[in-house]
Amino acid sequence: MKVDSRMLTFSRAEEKYESLILEWLHKPHVNEWYHGQGLQNTIEGLRRFVTGNQPRFDAWIAFCDGKPFGYLMTSVVEENEAHSDSQYAKWVEPGKKMYTLDLLIGDTEFLGKGLSTPMIKQFIQEILSDADIVFIDPEASNEKAIHVYERAGFEKLEQFVASWHPVSHWLMKLNAKNSKQLVDPQTIRTERLILRQWQKSDFAPFAELNADPTVREFFPSILNSAESDALAEQIECLINEKGWGFWAVSCPGVSDFIGMIGLERVNFDAPFTPAVEIGWRLARPYWGKGYATEGAKAALRFAFEELGLNEVVAFTTMENMRSRSVMEKLGMTHDPNDDFDHPKVPEGHSLQRHVLYRISRKQFDEGLDE
Ligand SMILES: CC(C)(COP(=O)(O)OP(=O)(O)OC[C@H]1O[C@@H](n2cnc3c(N)ncnc32)[C@H](O)[C@@H]1OP(=O)(O)O)[C@@H](O)C(=O)NCCC(=O)NCCS
Repeated sequence: MKVDSRMLTFSRAEEKYESLILEWLHKPHVNEWYHGQGLQNTIEGLRRFVTGNQPRFDAWIAFCDGKPFGYLMTSVVEENEAHSDSQYAKWVEPGKKMYTLDLLIGDTEFLGKGLSTPMIKQFIQEILSDADIVFIDPEASNEKAIHVYERAGFEKLEQFVASWHPVSHWLMKLNAKNSKQLVDPQTIRTERLILRQWQKSDFAPFAELNADPTVREFFPSILNSAESDALAEQIECLINEKGWGFWAVSCPGVSDFIGMIGLERVNFDAPFTPAVEIGWRLARPYWGKGYATEGAKAALRFAFEELGLNEVVAFTTMENMRSRSVMEKLGMTHDPNDDFDHPKVPEGHSLQRHVLYRISRKQFDEGLDE
């Protein structure tokens, strides 16, 4: 199985995942390190968390291409722990945001695939994005975990004997702000286009595009320039985090910025999520020239060949025939049973109903052969 770190997603461990997590906690490879009082604390902590009674504690499921495979727990270390008998006491740094982290890969299919370090790094980048310091405390004999944590950037501080299991543990620390190296943003070239990271000079033409009522015909409203700039900044950050996203598009010899085309994780819950969507938005002078299809085809290739995804979706309002025709030209298919009300469009709005198109890696490969 090809596993790619960029297919990882996280969501809060809701009650529906409790039995799966309990099953994982009792698997031999996990049980070796979660046992006795430590296991009991983990089980009770989870129960309190899913019933909303565990303040300062957070629990997350990690998914690989939509399949749950890992469990991560975090808690906040308060400054006043400096005056307690906690193992963190002497390492508390005033004014810093500090967390503890604990984790496991539960599904054995995902063990030993080099997935743990990318999972930890991406989790800290995306979920603990405000962390200055992250602590972790493996048992001293859990050499694999220690190796993985060191690879993720944690350093050993000292050994201590844990209250929940009186054997030696390593207290390890990560300076999260220093370790957030950005992934190199990818650039994609096609015959006529360059899909690339955003630059400041894109913001003005992007604002112009977002203020054009024709371009925004199928969105609930146009964007003012502050809203457009904020959106561009957000997209730029997402590309910095993952190396891919909704790229800015240049058309050499025509214009340095004609719009955006790319891929992003769907940022709302729907029957088809978690999923990665493909999308495009071009300024009006560049419509009708096949640019969207050309750029999107390259983005799809990136999704299947570089990210190793199994499926990509696209969605738009029912009436947006121009965009639907791009989806069809890409070989994407539409099943009316997938149509949905977009949760971010106000209830009852005429643009709420959306069509969903899908394309699998297999369909994409078959399309290339034709
Ligand atoms: C710890 C855990 C998350 C690691 O995930 P994983 O899928 O097994 O690990 P990966 O495949 O990503 O990486 C394993 C690395 O450890 C190395 N390794 C394996 N066994 C080792 C050992 N006994 N000693 C040192 N290193 C070891 C591997 O060579 C590999 O390193 P490399 O890629 O640099 O060669 C997972 O094994 C797990 O959940 N274990 C049970 C629960 C647990 O121990 N949690 C930690 C509690 S603190």
